[in-house]
Amino acid sequence: MPLIAPSILAADFANLQRDVEMINHSAAEYIHVDVMDGRFVPNISFGMPVCAAVKRHAQKPLDVHLMIVEPERYLEDFRKAGADIITVHIEACPNLHRTLQHIKELGAQASVAINPHTPVASLSEILGEVSQVLIMSVNPGFGGQSFIENTYRKVRELVELRADAGVNFDIEVDGGVNLDNAPLLVDAGVDVLVAGSFVFKSNDPVATIQALKGVETD
Ligand code: DX5
Ligand code: ZN
Repeated sequence: MPLIAPSILAADFANLQRDVEMINHSAAEYIHVDVMDGRFVPNISFGMPVCAAVKRHAQKPLDVHLMIVEPERYLEDFRKAGADIITVHIEACPNLHRTLQHIKELGAQASVAINPHTPVASLSEILGEVSQVLIMSVNPGFGGQSFIENTYRKVRELVELRADAGVNFDIEVDGGVNLDNAPLLVDAGVDVLVAGSFVFKSNDPVATIQALKGVETD
């Protein structure tokens, strides 16, 4: 069964405590926190204070996805704001190895993300340094976009790379996840499903999380 990480980007920001408590009471494993700076991506979401506010009510680990330039400047701040897993983008990190070491020194789990145009092979030298790899299945910046079909092939390639390297990390997919693609993603080898709009725009978010958790595979 996949781990589920609802993205609070799609929550009602005026009722954030209520929405975090909904996740607390659901079958989800993580709370996915999308940080955007208007530089790495063409949209601004929120920063450390909101992350810290979510943390005050969260009963599940915060999976913090940094879609920002120079993420190394803010690692300590996000760790202090309660990040348990910190994801940086390979496209934003000229010194990725150092950045991942820093995340681990801060006591968080290190995770790396790749955009749709970035091949999984570009991760080959740092696969032993991460506990999670995030494959973007939309172009980062906005919730509610449609899923890019190439993602299945990238997941399969990463599963193979992981086996060849003899290392272990979770494979997370983020963007456009719903009940149509979730079974295929889990089949391909995905460990963690991020879902924003599909959870929060549904009539019963707790039931939707449960449905994603229990997807049937072939
Ligand atoms: C996109 C973010 C995603 C987003 C997913 O840039 O990284 O986490 O919240 O939202 P949906 O599930 O609506 O595509
Ligand atoms: Zn995300």
